Amino acid sequence: MNTIPFNQLAPLYDLLADEIQPAVERVMASGWFILGPEVAAFEQEFAAYHGVKHAVGVANGTDAIELALRVASVGPGDEVITVSHTAVATVCAIEQAGAVPVLVDIDPQSFTIDPAAIEAAITPRTRAIIPVHLYGHPAAIAPISEIAARHNLLLIEDCAQAHGARSNGQLVGTFGHLAAFSFYPTKNLGAYGDGGAILTNDDRFAERLRRLRSYGQTQRYIHAERGVNSRLDELQAAILRVKLRHLDEHNQQRRQIARIYDTHLREVMTPTEAPDVHHVYHLYVVRHGARDALMQALAQQGVGTLIHYPVPVHLQDAYDDLGYRPGSLPVTEQTAREILSLPMYIGLKPHDVERAARAVEACSRVLS
Ligand SMILES: Cc1ncc(COP(=O)(O)O)c(C=O)c1O
Repeated sequence: MNTIPFNQLAPLYDLLADEIQPAVERVMASGWFILGPEVAAFEQEFAAYHGVKHAVGVANGTDAIELALRVASVGPGDEVITVSHTAVATVCAIEQAGAVPVLVDIDPQSFTIDPAAIEAAITPRTRAIIPVHLYGHPAAIAPISEIAARHNLLLIEDCAQAHGARSNGQLVGTFGHLAAFSFYPTKNLGAYGDGGAILTNDDRFAERLRRLRSYGQTQRYIHAERGVNSRLDELQAAILRVKLRHLDEHNQQRRQIARIYDTHLREVMTPTEAPDVHHVYHLYVVRHGARDALMQALAQQGVGTLIHYPVPVHLQDAYDDLGYRPGSLPVTEQTAREILSLPMYIGLKPHDVERAARAVEACSRVLS
């Protein structure tokens, strides 16, 4: 019996090779590898896809968040509210900007930031809110935007896991003052290396981001301010241009896989999709009280799974000094004990989804 891996990226390359190879060839032959015409074209196309004025390509999604904060002058002494139930990168980026992460609990249905918890965490030092559209499901953006506006806070969306997701028909990344994307290879829009981008409608933010990503340079060797080196390269941009054209179709395929899981799974709690939401299933995450045993049993059945994320940021040794303890964020902690991400990738065959789902059903029945 063949195994069903949790993820694999080669099938998608097979599907797109005829388009990707000439794009790569074009860049190699051009002799221009950093911040050239492909990056400019990708930025324009990525902005147009979202109906936003500016996209600025950077080296990765973590830098995208850091630079979004820095461009809005959020830094030392400022507090930024986000979740502990996220990739550690969200929190890492806040500290890279010099600000203090304030971690709050999530809504157990959507796994995204709880608006009431944001409100409770606001202090005179709060400058920004970073909701994470986790697993492909948008955060509750309407109440979050309302809170940000009422308290005059910067709103930065972390869209690293939600390219093409919508809330009330509107694409994520178009609600905040700024939005940060990662193009890490496994993302719904993934490069073949690292990459990231920031979206904004603000001309001054965009101009400053372009200089911050390039050592604060305004023209060659002239530095208006201290910046960093965080550039998207031409090869990645050329590849991303191809993949952007297929993003909606690929998200549709992810949704079809999710529908198959939804129809077969009874013994585990399946993901919810709020009625006003277009979920793009970066991950298909179920819950089960005996998660660890289920994961092990599935591995024995040849079904690969992962946990996103087993230890919330506030309980990681690295963030011990932030002052949280077990019990600080109860919904997050319970979620981390129960969640399991099932196989989900472009090229995953319907009969393999059904087989994985049957294995989940059989293993969970034994465990409950
Ligand atoms: C929610 C979230 N935010 C930020 C990032 C950071 O992206 P990158 O790995 O490109 O730095 C990631 C990806 O790892 C992510 O999943």
